[in-house]
Amino acid sequence: MPMLDGIRSIRDLNIEGRRLFLRVDFNVPLEGKTVTDDTRIRAALPTIRYAIEHGARIVLASHLGRPKGTRDAKYSLEPAGSALAGLLDQEVVLADDCIGDGPRKVIQDLRDGQIAMLENLRFYAEEEANDENFAKELAKLCDVYVNDAFGAAHRAHASVQALPRLVGERATGLLMERELDSLGKLLGDVAKPYVLVLGGAKVSDKMGVFDQMLTKVSAILIGGAMANTFLAAKGLSVGKSKIEEDKLALARSVLQKAELRGVPIILPEDVVIATSLDAAHGETVSVTAIPPDAMALDIGERTVALFRERLAHSSTVLWNGPMGLFEKAPFAAGTRGIAHAIVDSTAFSVVGGGDSVAAVQDAGLADRFGHVSTGGGASLELLEGKKLPGVEALRG
Ligand code: 3PG
Repeated sequence: MPMLDGIRSIRDLNIEGRRLFLRVDFNVPLEGKTVTDDTRIRAALPTIRYAIEHGARIVLASHLGRPKGTRDAKYSLEPAGSALAGLLDQEVVLADDCIGDGPRKVIQDLRDGQIAMLENLRFYAEEEANDENFAKELAKLCDVYVNDAFGAAHRAHASVQALPRLVGERATGLLMERELDSLGKLLGDVAKPYVLVLGGAKVSDKMGVFDQMLTKVSAILIGGAMANTFLAAKGLSVGKSKIEEDKLALARSVLQKAELRGVPIILPEDVVIATSLDAAHGETVSVTAIPPDAMALDIGERTVALFRERLAHSSTVLWNGPMGLFEKAPFAAGTRGIAHAIVDSTAFSVVGGGDSVAAVQDAGLADRFGHVSTGGGASLELLEGKKLPGVEALRG
């Protein structure tokens, strides 16, 4: 397993009675104070249970959302802490901050096998700035460091990159290990046809994947908000659909490069439209007939059939990002249809990204995928062949 060469596992550390900084990715969807999809919390349970059983004094740390350096109650980790406490049937003490006297006091009082959770790391701009002094403050709270936050491993942030370099003993958690092992199967010789299915709302984040992925995959199927930008780049009128104006030129150049390489980029032929996100029903129209006041909120049936046909003849599938606003019933069919098309094929399949994973869980199909990754951007970057800061910082 070369990706893990030179990296220790939590199993290699002596954690008994020691303060263990456990970086997790509890960036979970919330409705008010309720966690609506706890996949990422459940995924961290094996490492947390291992740490409890081995008598560590556990200091959990995570980001949640993008509060951009301000303390905003909406992004508190309290709901995630309560959800974890429920799953473990054990108390999780939430500190009121992630650095300083508050957390220090809470951690001092921990006994072996007990858990404290720091407040959102991104309440400090220094976290995203990978600030050394902020990392030093975090380092004061621990003796050993374990990173199980695969979903954030592509971020060069203080708790992911600067901190582990400051702590003498550092290692991967069990989830991180499993992710690297399973995703590693998609690096190197991958069974072809290899089909990439892309969608979702974080369009800007994903525009960079094309350069690398065009050299690896046999075809790219695009749905969700990203498809709108490509349709607009081809000169189609997409009404009020969400598009990224500043990425139109990039989308055109991606289409040209794909053509030169002979990699088909397949866009929707029909979409489900509505004039409001809260509409009770959608209407399916051809992509050439989107009215000026409407938004494309899902792919249509014809597109699902077109994508299904490609997926049926694939040997490897990587899926990242839902095909539409799947959280709302009138716009969920496209995403659900693609999830079924993938598991109905004989391909080795990997799905990554919070939203796509939630959709797959919702459809009850998670155990029919080859690997369900807790990382969206992280899994894409890894499979593009990039080195992830959170993984590299653990080496040596
Ligand atoms: C994710 O949800 O993909 C990770 O938690 C990283 O979050 P970010 O995109 O806000 O850095």
